[in-house]
Amino acid sequence: MAISLASLAITLHVCADSCFRYSLTEPPCTASGYLRGKSHSCNTENYSECCKDGEMYPQYQCSPPVTSSTPAQMMIVSFAINGDGGGPGACDGQYHNDTEMAVALSTGWFDGGSRCNRNIRISANGRSLLAKVVDECSSVEGCEAEQNYTPPCPNNVVNASPAVWDALGIPELQRGDYNITWSDA
Ligand SMILES: *[C@@H]1O[C@H](CO)[C@@H](O)[C@H](O)[C@H]1NC(C)=O
Ligand SMILES: *[C@@H]1O[C@H](CO)[C@@H](O)[C@H](O)[C@H]1NC(C)=O
Ligand SMILES: *[C@@H]1O[C@H](CO)[C@@H](O)[C@H](O)[C@H]1NC(C)=O
Repeated sequence: MAISLASLAITLHVCADSCFRYSLTEPPCTASGYLRGKSHSCNTENYSECCKDGEMYPQYQCSPPVTSSTPAQMMIVSFAINGDGGGPGACDGQYHNDTEMAVALSTGWFDGGSRCNRNIRISANGRSLLAKVVDECSSVEGCEAEQNYTPPCPNNVVNASPAVWDALGIPELQRGDYNITWSDA
């Protein structure tokens, strides 16, 4: 009996953290649909993955809740002309050279542009810095020229320009997916 009470307590404790967060603040972020991939050559210079024929890619309108230390997956992108970021930034219709501290956020975090031209604080590799939101990494659209023929973004992505990676002191070889935390600045 003691053992089953203990495991019940553990179950309730686990639920107390996650169930509270999901049921009382926001519903969990689940896929809103799936996009059927079609292949096309894409610019894979900096770790981009091209869409594959027939693959079903989940689409998200939402992202996990933003906190003072929001976990995210950081990826490298060039927002420059002919960069792997595709078209110009959704915030200002401009390209941004690789020396600018620029980021794009997954659709839910982009939030219809509410963070456009504002800084977010990124913490990684023992450092912390500010970078400007210039674009959306669409978690809904994908496999088109606008997205460099790559799949929709996962819902927890911060795409960052080379300048951000340089300033964080992350070596070239680790510039694929990188775990960071971020917050509104
Ligand atoms: C790849 O990254 C380098 C810097 O790390 C950048 O100069 C170059 O423009 C990027 N290539 C593309 C296609 O984005
Ligand atoms: C890149 O952008 C920064 C900030 O807008 C600007 O100061 C710099 O001159 C630009 N560099 C190039 C090579 O265009
Ligand atoms: C990055 O975060 C994910 C999810 O939070 C975790 O599963 C993974 O192990 C982490 N990767 C590294 C290298 O820390």
